[in-house]
Amino acid sequence: MAEDALQTENVGVKDAAAINDDQSPRYNLIIADKSPSARKVLISKIMEVLQDALVKEASDGTQVQELLTTGDCDLVISDIEMPKLDGYKLLQWVREQPRMKLLPFIVHTTFNEASAVKKAIDLGVTDYILKTVSPETLARKIQDNVELVRELVEKKKELVKSISIPPQPQIIMELDTEINKPDPDMKKIIDLVKKDIALTTKVMKVANSPFFSSTKVSTIDRAMAVLGLKEFHKTVVLSSIQNALGGGKHVSDEFWKHSMLNAEIVRFIAEKKGSEYGFISPQPAKIQEFENQAYLTGLLHDCGMVLMLNKFDNYDIDKFLKMNKDIVEHEDGEYYTNHCSLAAIMLRQWGLPELVCEAIRYHHGAEVPEVHLSEGLETRPLKKLWSVIQLADYMISLYLASVSCDLESDNLWAQAHASAMSELNLESGALKTLKLTITEFLLKREKK
Ligand SMILES: [Fe+2]
Ligand SMILES: [Fe+2]
Repeated sequence: MAEDALQTENVGVKDAAAINDDQSPRYNLIIADKSPSARKVLISKIMEVLQDALVKEASDGTQVQELLTTGDCDLVISDIEMPKLDGYKLLQWVREQPRMKLLPFIVHTTFNEASAVKKAIDLGVTDYILKTVSPETLARKIQDNVELVRELVEKKKELVKSISIPPQPQIIMELDTEINKPDPDMKKIIDLVKKDIALTTKVMKVANSPFFSSTKVSTIDRAMAVLGLKEFHKTVVLSSIQNALGGGKHVSDEFWKHSMLNAEIVRFIAEKKGSEYGFISPQPAKIQEFENQAYLTGLLHDCGMVLMLNKFDNYDIDKFLKMNKDIVEHEDGEYYTNHCSLAAIMLRQWGLPELVCEAIRYHHGAEVPEVHLSEGLETRPLKKLWSVIQLADYMISLYLASVSCDLESDNLWAQAHASAMSELNLESGALKTLKLTITEFLLKREKK
């Protein structure tokens, strides 16, 4: 199957500089100066040359913060000396906001000392101009900087559209159909794997590891006997996904470990705690299917990172993997897409169930959007699965950092994930118990 390019994109973030339409001004500007008369002079200089500009005024840095978080802005012109929050601190804050990394920020001041200019440059200023600037020079600097960012944003969006979706590993769906039957046909499952030599080799390698076998395993039938159906299935799914996604740059072992651990934890919760947390559908026939889907969701929840790694030269997969907060905002701010949206697009093209795609699409969100209530997708399992993916990511970060119990970080996590906590009927006491249970499970799994 030929590789598909991305047809759609769901960035979900406002551009640093939105492309102008006929109704809106070409340049949305914010000017900040503590002196009303200085602001008046600046505005008249701007309007003298740029009639299609909309200028908002602020008398200190905190007012600029307010304007930036509530409305559109293409460029900020700010003095340095201001009450409450000065120009330097404002600039520093702007550069710390994932969505404002590209926002042009011009310092407009009477200070012309080299140290003042250097400080502004170090903080990421776009341009530095003195208050004696002519209207023409000022207008040119505004136009040039805004247009430059617009071009850059367009290029980044084009890059996102050209991201290739690797072909679906067919075997995952075929295996899924067989394994979810009440009485799976082992011969059929083995035959499916046998068709793929690379996959067979990988499964044999796992079966021959000291972890599973002390004697040499030389046939795939024997590998199935040694591993057991569940482990055999897990190995095949993981290997096929690694094969499908691994065509580009090297993906770190940490990434696969994170994905594996998430899948194991999600499956563990589904199996052991499913009914307690209302996680599992009450129909017994559906339980196995749901557990398999839960495993797949955990395994694939961050696979969008591999697509990003393959496309963007400076994408640091391990940095994003360790980031606890605002991952999506940082990715959107820098790449105009994020690993959740990309994964959902890819998995939908692969034909995976909507439940899996949507749980992954929102796995860093504060909640699952209510729109699903009207889309016919069963919201209950979706919300449960989404909650457990988030919980699993938290447990992994604690486990890998060898942190066992810290009530404060538990509380912080619970506050930030209030929706997931309530979805799983978890209170902080129950979270602590669950954490211990999962740590025990992971340690046992490692010792096995
Ligand atoms: Fe993620
Ligand atoms: Fe993750």
